[in-house]
Amino acid sequence: MEFSIKSGSPEKQRSACVVIGVYETRKLSLAGEMIDRVAKGYLSDILRRGDMEGKNGTTLLLHNVPSTLCDRVLLVGLGKEREFKENEYRTAIKAAIKTLNETGSLEAVVYLTELSVKKRSVTWRIEQAAIVAMEAVYRFDKLKSKQDEVRRPLRKLTLSVQRRNEISEAEAAVVSGQAIAQGMNLAKDLGNLPGNICTPTYLAEQARGIGKTYGLKVEVLDTPEIEKLGMGSFLSVAKGSRQPPKLIVMHYQGGAKKAPPVVLVGKGITFDAGGISLKPAAEMDEMKYDMCGAASVLGTMKAIAQMQLKLNVVAIIPTCENLPDGDANKPGDIVTSMSGQTIEILNTDAEGRLILCDALTYAERFEPQAVVDVATLTGACVIALGHHASGLFSNNDTLARELQHAADDAYDRLWHMPLWDDYQEQLKSNFADMANIGGRAAGSVTAACFLSRFTKKYDWAHLDIAGTAWKSGKDKGATGRPVPLLTHFLIKRANA
Ligand code: BES
Ligand code: MN
Ligand code: ZN
Repeated sequence: MEFSIKSGSPEKQRSACVVIGVYETRKLSLAGEMIDRVAKGYLSDILRRGDMEGKNGTTLLLHNVPSTLCDRVLLVGLGKEREFKENEYRTAIKAAIKTLNETGSLEAVVYLTELSVKKRSVTWRIEQAAIVAMEAVYRFDKLKSKQDEVRRPLRKLTLSVQRRNEISEAEAAVVSGQAIAQGMNLAKDLGNLPGNICTPTYLAEQARGIGKTYGLKVEVLDTPEIEKLGMGSFLSVAKGSRQPPKLIVMHYQGGAKKAPPVVLVGKGITFDAGGISLKPAAEMDEMKYDMCGAASVLGTMKAIAQMQLKLNVVAIIPTCENLPDGDANKPGDIVTSMSGQTIEILNTDAEGRLILCDALTYAERFEPQAVVDVATLTGACVIALGHHASGLFSNNDTLARELQHAADDAYDRLWHMPLWDDYQEQLKSNFADMANIGGRAAGSVTAACFLSRFTKKYDWAHLDIAGTAWKSGKDKGATGRPVPLLTHFLIKRANA
């Protein structure tokens, strides 16, 4: 989708459709009043007759509104003015885009971006509008034999700002919004692909493709090289599968040659059956999403490369399958990680930490300014936080705060969880340096505690995205989170 920014009167727009907000109950927004005035009360008449109340997310499409230069006016319900916040804004934009896409307007001018949203700037409104618009038209139907075609899809959106002096910041917001949305689209596509297509080898090819398009160096390490590095923990998970594991390393060089990079690490389990500690059958298909950490890292790399951010970023993606097999890990097996620490595998389904710990040790060689890992790590995190916030764990409170700010700016929320030493004792093993599980209590915290034993040499944060990376049920699909938050974090670091 193409976006542009404009400032001007709604009644003067030569467009297929002008999109106007209506508050509950039947109260026109400023742009609506301007049209109503030239149209001699045409809109307020319609509202008075009861065609629309203004409930958030409702729409009413009008044709041939008198004294306007546009073909259509789309009224969009905003809900109560006092309650108009982030969610209501996003819902209104989404409803508008869906209707536009289905009703034949190839292009439109949207005035919803002029509405004030509590505590949010014009930059936020425009960036969100671009992201929500692209999300509203996102489809994943390439594996259906017949795609349901949109007859006249929306191609171009003009987003309106109230004042001319807002145009340049709004244009910058469109650029970041579009880059973030494209990164999210990549993360969604990879997440939605089934395990038989999106294999470790496929992810490696995708990384290479991004490298080619944007000029990043991409290394893909195969089993012999991973063995040479001593990644006994990662390899122990991979060996129960016929798909060869890959360690993907991407280098984005937007900063000074020697400037320390931010390292992003993404869990890339392309299917998690649990291994010998086999998962129950119900909803097991959703474990194709167990590579969403990796997908979000790839999406973020794409977004920052597109924006040409001025900093260095290294992406590390350990990727393999976790399946039951004659050669798979068995409960009680003890493996040696790249760090030299030994791990007793009491549950083969706690495999994410087993592949991440070696990737986190590998990260040391880049002498990073910070390391952030992203993983669909624990069901316990879903129990703790549900589907609204990702879990944030960090060995550095300043880094945690920085990530929370980025999450707030991006409206891709995080909740800071404890990483106190008190929890560490749950990982005690009688036979190895540690066990890979810590019992039922605080499962997402003990998983993070496990990782913390491999991240002592740098500032590190861990994002548990088990509850936020995809949706279940009738709207099953990847969300593209946390690409927005990671991208915002890197934008801030680049400008620091
Ligand atoms: N990939 C899963 C975590 C997961 C489960 C994410 C359900 C989203 C929904 C992870 O590998 C896993 O299986 N974790 C176990 C850990 C347990 C064995 C300590 C879990 O959460 O049950
Ligand atoms: Mn698992
Ligand atoms: Zn997993």
